[in-house]
Amino acid sequence: MRKIQLTETVLRDANQSLMSTRMSIDSFREILGEMDKVGYYSVECWGGATFDSCIRYLDEDPWERLAFFRKHMPNTKLQMLLRGQNLLGYKHYPDDVVRRFIATAVDTGIDIIRIFDALNDLDNLRVSVDETLRRGAHASCAISYTVSPVHSVEKYVDIAKAMEDMGAQSICIKDMAGILSPTACGELFTALRENVKLPLLLHSHCSTGYAYMTYLKAIESGADVLDTAISAFSGGVSQPPTETVERVIRESGFTSGCDALAMTRVNDHFKNVFSQARDKGLISDKALGTNPFTLTSQIPGGMYSNLLSQLKEQNILDKLDEILQEVPRVRKDLGYPPLVTPISQMVGTQSVMNVLCGEAYGRVIESVRDYVKGDYGKAPSPIDPEVARKVLATAKEGKSGLQQPTFAQARQEHPELDDRDLLTLLLFPQVGEQFLTKREELRKTRFRYKVTPREELTELRGEETDPDILALLTGILAYYLDLEPEGLKLLKIQKEETV
Ligand code: CO
Repeated sequence: MRKIQLTETVLRDANQSLMSTRMSIDSFREILGEMDKVGYYSVECWGGATFDSCIRYLDEDPWERLAFFRKHMPNTKLQMLLRGQNLLGYKHYPDDVVRRFIATAVDTGIDIIRIFDALNDLDNLRVSVDETLRRGAHASCAISYTVSPVHSVEKYVDIAKAMEDMGAQSICIKDMAGILSPTACGELFTALRENVKLPLLLHSHCSTGYAYMTYLKAIESGADVLDTAISAFSGGVSQPPTETVERVIRESGFTSGCDALAMTRVNDHFKNVFSQARDKGLISDKALGTNPFTLTSQIPGGMYSNLLSQLKEQNILDKLDEILQEVPRVRKDLGYPPLVTPISQMVGTQSVMNVLCGEAYGRVIESVRDYVKGDYGKAPSPIDPEVARKVLATAKEGKSGLQQPTFAQARQEHPELDDRDLLTLLLFPQVGEQFLTKREELRKTRFRYKVTPREELTELRGEETDPDILALLTGILAYYLDLEPEGLKLLKIQKEETV
């Protein structure tokens, strides 16, 4: 029977979409073993915003987090999302940084790298694909999906074929705004199936409500893998629910290879994670709703809420309507780029500028200037020449905007750092440095203790454990476990690795 498989996104995209990537290692420590038994095509667990969030908010080393996934999910393919030449940051990095980053990610445990570029400029994917293949990992290329007068089924098929020629081992349609309609999906996947030999993957979001129906169309039109989130973390701006889609796959006469019982256990666990996150205010009700507004405005939900808070901050909420009308104009001027990070922020902010200034491109933001200069890659269709002239006239002379140090240069400057730490620093210079300093402090003060029942009744005793810490732990355990001193004597406390 033909297989249609699932990629579970709860650890990366669902985490990113619903709780701003604040899921700490403690939220899933206990459940990875069960996830490993489900039989997913892959678990998306790294990349995207997770790296940034680990060092900025969670005080976790992203590399150690990846090694932890590897250790606890030995039978599952681990997948990451990579922005091509931008890696996980917002700038173009030199080739040797890109290569070293991919090599280190694969060494630490990544099996599948999904590589995309916001503009679908294949030159931005070439080095990443090449290095992924050289390291023996699976290179999956993703097409950023958008709707515009210059995007068509033929254009997407051409991009997919070029990706195949480049060495991609699978092709993903990445519908970050949830605007791929069931009908369009049927046409697109049928055409891709006829023209491309590689496995076809679909990634969408429920934001507009399309995805629930679009996934059925993908199942019927030749998709091989669908991205889903375990039901507790599904819907809203996240992916469709894993368990339900799995059922639809079976009812459509295919097999997914997933164990339903294991999925139930995974969901039971994440239900708790979800309600705790909600109690802490980490999940906003807006992220859970359905918002068809994007279908008419072409403004993705995330971009819309960013715009709103930007306008509120500057006390110009009354300009909202004007700005919403300006966004499609700016997008057209810039050659219809897909509205995805970092382009969506760029188009949004420039639209605000145009309205406030009372003159289009009277003032130009730095990133738009870099975009027009071509620093982000090729636009899907030519940039309006009049706009380009006006934008470039504001450029400062002799300044080459986005030049980043090479890995070799950074290595000379920081001989004391290993590759992982050096990459952290290269990707996020300021936040990375703060994180590395803080991690040193934390390593001195943060330990994990393992508490297990003792075989015989003996004195409570710690191994390699400071007596003060032991006394503290005993107090905490007595409180939380509600144990009498006799009961406490049955526990053995062992110091484990540093976290
Ligand atoms: Co996504």
